[in-house]
Amino acid sequence: MASHLDTGTYYNHLQIMYDIFYSKSTSGLHYGFWEKNTKTTEESIINTNKFVVKCLDINDKDIILDAGCGIGGTCLFIGKRYNAKIIGITLSKRQLTRASKKANTVGLNNVTFSQQDYTKTDFKDKSFTKIYAIESICHTKNNLDFLIEAYRLLKNNGKLVISDGFLARENLNKKEKQVLKNCLTGWGLPNLSTKEKFFEDLKKAGFRNIKYYDKFKSIRKTRNRIFRLGLFGYLLTLLMYTFRLVPKCIHDNTIMCINQKRLFSDKNNIATYGVFIAEK
Ligand SMILES: C[S@@+](CC[C@H](N)C(=O)[O-])C[C@H]1O[C@@H](n2cnc3c(N)ncnc32)[C@H](O)[C@@H]1O
Repeated sequence: MASHLDTGTYYNHLQIMYDIFYSKSTSGLHYGFWEKNTKTTEESIINTNKFVVKCLDINDKDIILDAGCGIGGTCLFIGKRYNAKIIGITLSKRQLTRASKKANTVGLNNVTFSQQDYTKTDFKDKSFTKIYAIESICHTKNNLDFLIEAYRLLKNNGKLVISDGFLARENLNKKEKQVLKNCLTGWGLPNLSTKEKFFEDLKKAGFRNIKYYDKFKSIRKTRNRIFRLGLFGYLLTLLMYTFRLVPKCIHDNTIMCINQKRLFSDKNNIATYGVFIAEK
């Protein structure tokens, strides 16, 4: 298991890097899905939102939880298009402040945010009709902690959608383990579940009708873009970290940018990316 910063602190430090170099106007902290006509990273990030929204099959009566909402990009995306009620939760105080300000600025009163742990929220049983989590469940040491809580929070027949990276297999060699470790450290993650283990955990938590959409091909261009950012930033962040101008996690993040291309490699099949849909 890689040593990692606590999640709140990690995002308090890293959010600015994501803002400047990645998410820009989308406020999205996730891999973008590229389609035939996609031209920019921003469009690809929005495509991921659109895919999740399609999986959720949202209607205006829905009460939706975004478990690990970042600065609220997806919540605002949904809130502008539907009258559904959306609540986003994050561990990072800085993200919470940013997300709440954005919702106020655009005048959305169907979207709210709070600082909470998605494995032990203060919401009552069956509070939500839908729950989604985009690249946030990877932060839990034990996926079941989240899945059991999500099951508790969903109304009967409620829907859960998870968009994330997963290990494609367990038997990694020494080099592959190092690639994984560099990625986990740079992302601030404790571990990464295999797709199969996640499927089993969904079942253990009680979910049914589980479907998985493979999106590996769709994230290739994002992976390549992040790799180029890593090459560009490597020396700069190394120097800044050496002179103690930035914390170590900033340089670790550029090391991850370079390594995630090997992790999500077409050839090595170490990790993949996909979207799970399940029902209570
Ligand atoms: C990679 S960001 C993704 C943010 C957002 N889903 C998006 O796509 O823009 C991961 C998010 O998960 C949140 N997170 C991680 N562990 C959490 C936990 N136990 N409870 C609540 N949020 C958590 C982090 O605070 C961060 O906002």
